[in-house]
Amino acid sequence: MVTGAFGQLGFALDKVLSNNHDLIRTGLVIPNGQNGLLANIQNKVHLNEVITSVSPDIVINLAAMTNVDDCEKRPKLAREINIAGVQHLCDSFNGKIIHISTDYVFDGKNGPYSENDKVCPISVYGQTKLASEQLLMNDSTDHLIIRGNVLYDNISYTKASFLNWVVESLKNNQKIKVVKDQFNNPTWTRSMADIIELCINKDVKGIIHWGDSDYISRYDFALMIAEKYSLNTSLISPILTEELSQEADRPLQSGLITDKIVKILNVIPPSIDDCLTAIIEKDK
Ligand SMILES: NC(=O)c1ccc[n+]([C@@H]2O[C@H](COP(=O)([O-])OP(=O)(O)OC[C@H]3O[C@@H](n4cnc5c(N)ncnc54)[C@H](OP(=O)(O)O)[C@@H]3O)[C@@H](O)[C@H]2O)c1
Repeated sequence: MVTGAFGQLGFALDKVLSNNHDLIRTGLVIPNGQNGLLANIQNKVHLNEVITSVSPDIVINLAAMTNVDDCEKRPKLAREINIAGVQHLCDSFNGKIIHISTDYVFDGKNGPYSENDKVCPISVYGQTKLASEQLLMNDSTDHLIIRGNVLYDNISYTKASFLNWVVESLKNNQKIKVVKDQFNNPTWTRSMADIIELCINKDVKGIIHWGDSDYISRYDFALMIAEKYSLNTSLISPILTEELSQEADRPLQSGLITDKIVKILNVIPPSIDDCLTAIIEKDK
């Protein structure tokens, strides 16, 4: 059973997992043409009923308030979804919970980070995600926490796809400014979905980091996207994070070291170049 299954990662996970597993997708709303059950993780009673009726072997929790600036503006709601929601899951389900967390649990002063590095979130989003990790570690005997970096795919139905924003802006000849001082290892949603499946198959537990192989600035990532889609790179100009005056602080030198899971699963994180090639091929 997947919560928040109709978001960015949920669609990739559906493609990967539905081949070999009976997947029950749940969400706040069920988009037209999709199958699933309504489940709001904020609503403990209803969530309990859904879990009882589905009786899953594993719950994969993707549901979260993911807009970092909205979390800063509405911290109470962020806590209700990102922390209390996970508490409701733990209270309703005794089996294995796979939970997706984030590199925003770090302050971004000296990334990329490994699982043993000191956490120190600098935003409400990061604080709530860290609290949800701690809750799982205390309340669930069988859990896997996978921390991810900025996820991307070419999908127009999610609210915030960086890839779509870059491609659509440049196609429409619009100039864009992209931060040159935020570094991490951007990760294709399909790559994250593949790792989730491999972790299920190998029953990996505890806390792991996953991210693709290239550690770059968001500005350089935008340039790579433009070049790969044969779009006009001169429309992209660099900007500093502080010039954006966003509601929430961002970890600047962030990103995730993946050595632990690479060793456990014997996998190689893909390059951005290979992922963008695969995305373009899939969309033809
Ligand atoms: N995107 C990234 O770059 C990134 C990086 C690291 C970790 N993560 C983590 O990965 C997970 C999946 O993220 P994503 O990129 O797929 O984000 P997303 O597209 O925003 O998906 C999250 C989903 O959760 C749903 N949701 C929100 N509140 C809910 C509630 N109370 N009950 C049930 N569902 C609820 C959202 O529905 P609505 O859209 O209708 O609100 C959305 O479908 C999240 O836990 C996120 O923290 C994401």
